[in-house]
Amino acid sequence: AWLPPEAFRALGARRVLVHGQGMLVDTVLDEVSRACARYGGRVWHSPSWDVDVDVVLALRGAGELPNPAVEAARAAGEAALVEIGDGETLGDEGFLLARAGEVTVVLADAPAGLLYGLFHVVRLCAAAYDPARPPERHRPALRRRMLNHWDNVAVHPVMGQVERGYAGGSIFWRDGRPRGDLARIREYGRLLAASGVNAISVNNVNVGRTEALLLTDRLGDIAEIADVLRPYGIRVHLSVTFAAPVVLGGLSTADPMDEAVRAWWAATTRNVYERIPDFGGYVVKADSEGQPGPFTYGRDHADGANVLAEALAPHGGVVHWRAFVYNHHQDWRDRSTDRARAAYDHFTPLDGRFRANVVVQVKFGPVDFQTREPVSPVLAAMPATRLAVELQVTQEYTGQQRHVCHLGPWWGEVLRFEPWGPGGRTIADVATGVAESGGGLVAVANTGDDLFWTGHPLAQANLYTFGRLAWDPRLDPTAILDEWISLTFPPSATADPELVGRTLHEILDDSWRTYERYTAPLGVGFMVHPGDHYGPGIDGYEYTRWGTYHFADRDGVGVDRSRASGTGFAAQYPPYWAQVYESPESCPDELLLFFHHVPYEHVLHSGSTVIQHIYDTHFTGVEEVAVMRRRWQTLNGMIDPAVYERVAERLDEQVRSATEWRDQVNAYFFRKSGVPDERGRTIY
Ligand code: GCU
Repeated sequence: AWLPPEAFRALGARRVLVHGQGMLVDTVLDEVSRACARYGGRVWHSPSWDVDVDVVLALRGAGELPNPAVEAARAAGEAALVEIGDGETLGDEGFLLARAGEVTVVLADAPAGLLYGLFHVVRLCAAAYDPARPPERHRPALRRRMLNHWDNVAVHPVMGQVERGYAGGSIFWRDGRPRGDLARIREYGRLLAASGVNAISVNNVNVGRTEALLLTDRLGDIAEIADVLRPYGIRVHLSVTFAAPVVLGGLSTADPMDEAVRAWWAATTRNVYERIPDFGGYVVKADSEGQPGPFTYGRDHADGANVLAEALAPHGGVVHWRAFVYNHHQDWRDRSTDRARAAYDHFTPLDGRFRANVVVQVKFGPVDFQTREPVSPVLAAMPATRLAVELQVTQEYTGQQRHVCHLGPWWGEVLRFEPWGPGGRTIADVATGVAESGGGLVAVANTGDDLFWTGHPLAQANLYTFGRLAWDPRLDPTAILDEWISLTFPPSATADPELVGRTLHEILDDSWRTYERYTAPLGVGFMVHPGDHYGPGIDGYEYTRWGTYHFADRDGVGVDRSRASGTGFAAQYPPYWAQVYESPESCPDELLLFFHHVPYEHVLHSGSTVIQHIYDTHFTGVEEVAVMRRRWQTLNGMIDPAVYERVAERLDEQVRSATEWRDQVNAYFFRKSGVPDERGRTIY
C-alpha cells in the first residue's frame, strides 16, 4: 500500500537522532531503525555523546542532550515555532517541521506527535530535506479520526464475514474466532497511522449474538487487538448492542431509566477499562433496521445514549450513537413517509439533551451513502450536540471495489458544503466544532484480508484520502491523491514516475463522476440490485417496503421532496438551501430527481432534457470507462505485475458492468417515456 520500503529511502539513507521516551517513541525508533538498516543510514536514541546528524526527531520535554549540534537544531526548531506564532503548544498529536541549517528537525509535545511527524517526513520524501523549506506546524483539525469496521466475528448467513466488505475476509475475525494474525493487524495499524487515523471499531454495527460477547466474556479478544494497535496511536472502540443488559447481563429489561440497567452498564464498562485502560468507547446502532434500542421502553435516543455515556464518562470514553434511523416498512402509496426525513425528525428535537461524551454520528447524506445525495440537513440542525460526519469508504453503492471510483472529490464537496448558505460555516467546521468540540470524521472501512488490503488496489486511495481528510478536512483531495500516488508507486527501473502519476490521475480524478454518469441519474439514487447492491436493478427497490423509490412512470421520474407539494424534506435545510432545493428551477441539476418529480422533457440548466441527459451520460460514462482501461494498459510493465493484473481484471468487469448499467437504464427510460434518443444510438 502506501508504505512500501522505498517510501523510506530518503530517510533511511540519513543519520537520524530520536530523542524522547515512550511507547510511541519506540515505534518511531523502530521505523527509523528499519529504514536505516535497509538504506545505509544510522540511528541514535538520545545519545550521551556528540553525534553529527541530518535529522532530529525530538520530544520537547525530553531534556537536554550533551550534544551542541543537536541542541542547536532543537533550539532552531523552538525558535521556528515561536516565529510561526499561533500558540506554542503542539498538542497531543501535533508536530513542527523545520530546517536548522543542514538538519531537518521534527519537534512534538507528545509521542503521538512524533509518530505523525515521522510519517510526514516520509510522505515529503526528498522535500523534507530542502534547505529552503519554511517551517510548518501541523495539528489535526479533528480530534477523533475513526474507522468503523463492519466485521462480523461469526460468519453471517447473508452478509458473510464482513458486512458490505469487498476485500475478502476480516483482518480481525474468522469463523467465530480471532483470526490470530497479529502481525497483519500491526501492519494495518501502521498504515492507518501513516494516513492519520487514530481510532477504530472492530465489529459490525449490527451486533449479533457472538459479537455481543466481545463486551464481556470475549473482552480478551478486544484487549489483544488494542495491544497491537496501541503502538501506532490507535484506540479501539466496540460496537455494542443496546440489549446487552438482557442478552449478556440476564436482566429482564434494558430500559435506560432502570437503576439495575445503569448499574450494569457502569460495572461492565469499568471492567472494560480495567482490561483496556485506553479503550475508546462504544458505537451504537439502535432502533434501526431491526437493532434493539430505547424505543422498546418508550424512551428516546438521548435517554439511550446517555446511559452508556454515563458509564463511559469516568474513564474518558465516548459513545458514537448513530443517527441512521428510519422506518423500513414503507408503503409506496404513502407519499408522506420519506426515508430522507427520518434522521432529522428523530434527532433534532433531542438537540441539547445528549451528554458531553455522546457523539451523534450522522451519515453525510440523508439516505444511505449514495453516489450523489444532498448533504444531510441534520448536520446544520443540532448546534448543541457533538456531531460526527460518517462517510463510507467501503464502496457499497459505488462499485464495490470492482469499479474504480475515487471518492476524494465527492467527500471534498461534502466537507466544503456550506449548509447555511454561501460564505457560512462548512460541514468540515461542524465536524471540527468550536475549540475541537466537534465529533470528528468517521468512515466505514474498505479493508480486509485481501493481498492488496482493499480488493481493488486503486481503492487504497480512498482509505488514504479518508485518513488525510480526517486529519485536515480542508486539504485538497487532488493533492492527497498526489501523495498517495508517489508513496504507493515509487520510481523504479522500469517506471517513469511522471507518466505513472499522470496516468493514475487521469484514471482516478474523475472516476466518481464517471460512475455517477452510468448509474442512477440526477441524484435519484439506488436503482441497484436489491440485497447485494451491485449492478443495475432499476426497479429493485421500487416494489419493496424499504422505500427507496424513484417513482418513474410514463410521464416522469423523481421524488417530490418539496415543502409545497412533496414530503417536505427540502424544508429541513436552513433557509438558503431550503429555497434553492424547493423549486426545480433553482435546484442544481445533479440533485434534481432527488428533490423533484419532473416530466422527461423537463429542461435542465445544462440545456438538455432529463431524458436526453439520461441517454447522453450513460453513453459517455461507458466510453470513459473504456478509456480508463486503455490508459491502464499503457502502464503494463511499469508497475508490479500482480497489481497490474488485478486492476486490469477489475477494469474488464467495470466495462462489462457499466455497459449493463447503460443498457438497462437507457432501455428502461426509453420504454417508460417513449422518447427516442435524439442521436439515434442503440437502445435495447
Ligand atoms: C446500509 C447497509 C447496511 C448497513 C446500514 C448501516 O443500509 O446496506 O448493510 O447495516 O447501511 O449503516 O447501518
